[in-house]
Amino acid sequence: MTARELRQMYLDFFKRKGHQVIASASLLPDNDPTVLFTTAGMHPLVPYLLGEAHPLGKRLTDVQKCFRTGDIDEVGDDTHLTFFEMLGNWSLGDYFKQQSISFSYEFLTKELGIPMERLAVTVFEGDQAVPRDEETKQYWMENGLKENQIFFYGREENWWGPAGQTGPCGPDTEIFYDTKKTACGPKCGPSCKCGKYVEIWNNVFMEYKKEADGSYIELEQKNVDTGMGLERMLTFLNGKSNVYETELFLPVIGKLEEYAAVPYQESNKREYRIIAEHMRAMTFLLGDEKRVVPSNNEQGYVLRRLIRRVIRLLSRLGIQENILGILSEVIIRQYGDDYPELKNNENFILEQLQKEYHLFAKTLETGLKRAESAFEKIGEDRILSGDIAFHLYDTYGFPLEFTKELAEEKGIQVDIKGFEEKFKEHQNNSRLGADKKFAGGLSDHSEQTARLHTATHLLQGALRRVLGDTVGQRNCITIVKGFPNKVCYNKGD
Ligand code: SER
Repeated sequence: MTARELRQMYLDFFKRKGHQVIASASLLPDNDPTVLFTTAGMHPLVPYLLGEAHPLGKRLTDVQKCFRTGDIDEVGDDTHLTFFEMLGNWSLGDYFKQQSISFSYEFLTKELGIPMERLAVTVFEGDQAVPRDEETKQYWMENGLKENQIFFYGREENWWGPAGQTGPCGPDTEIFYDTKKTACGPKCGPSCKCGKYVEIWNNVFMEYKKEADGSYIELEQKNVDTGMGLERMLTFLNGKSNVYETELFLPVIGKLEEYAAVPYQESNKREYRIIAEHMRAMTFLLGDEKRVVPSNNEQGYVLRRLIRRVIRLLSRLGIQENILGILSEVIIRQYGDDYPELKNNENFILEQLQKEYHLFAKTLETGLKRAESAFEKIGEDRILSGDIAFHLYDTYGFPLEFTKELAEEKGIQVDIKGFEEKFKEHQNNSRLGADKKFAGGLSDHSEQTARLHTATHLLQGALRRVLGDTVGQRNCITIVKGFPNKVCYNKGD
């Protein structure tokens, strides 16, 4: 099955079930200042999940482009991605658990032909705040699932959202494919990472809203939000063992092989895979309808990290010339009919890649030498000081994560706290000069306001670098407190 067939099959099925097809929204969310990127299909629909009437009605379906930074370090393994497409269907206060489960069951077993015995599902076991979801279990059993195919888990596994710090969320039921491999032990179940179970779909029953103070209030409107990762489903349906063997990545890997010293193989697969994955992600970020530009802030910083990582990995494959544009063109051709914004922004994408390459390629080699000599002199604690990490950032343009990766390859840790201190100190120094200018130019503008404003931005930038893209301006206290919950929105990824 091709990606296009799978998208179409999904949308057609839900159209037949009374859903309206909506277009994918931008990768940059409109209505959520607590997150940098659109991380799930439900994200652009938050106002409607909270009760606003959607112009197209109460049943919607789409294919949404998504971007998550949480797993950036896992990219290169068989499944983790930064950019991905999510197939989804929604009920905005219309059908609820029973019908949602029947739709999913029908699509999987009748449309895709997955045998019922191959399915396993998880259900929320309940806690002090929300009761055990016996109803969901019952609906699965009404569709024919046996007791031993249904597993109950807690909040860690069976609660989804909100996408940012606040917003709609609720218990979910996740659907897995049972590979029928032997269980790895008595506790083996869908939550186990041994590979026996592959997650294919997530149905969230969005009945709650998380508030900024961390409390949950019940929503008047009970919604359904489902999400299926296109890449993962395609891999699995075509009997492939990893996403890079699918039609989605083969063309870019093939192009890369034309330039690399050695073809794609076990010894270099990590480099090939990360380049392929990041090239696709950066093409979609640059080519987004809202166009991301590489920079040292927010979305632009994430984009810069992807591009700079790729430039280094290309040189590791023995490629010295700038082929970023050539690789990106492969992706534009491949996805341009389904995502016309890529074609419309083609010149912009290629120009920005060219610019960023020239900016970084100049300093990369000397920076790498500088890093090498610091690694050679590393002490017994095997920790690279924050001062050196900052020097590599400030002088050679090495994002912190980039230095971390270089260091980790040598079994060295980076003093992140030290880096952050140095970073803030540097920003404070440059701010003194900026403040003077600011106060001079805008004499009616309170200096204190200006300073607070700048400080808030700096703090956010620093937090984002360390904590990831869920950090936002809404309220910093919640952000720091909320960090352990970050796992919620990366779950299912
Ligand atoms: N929002 C849920 C997820 O991302 C279902 O779409 O998994």
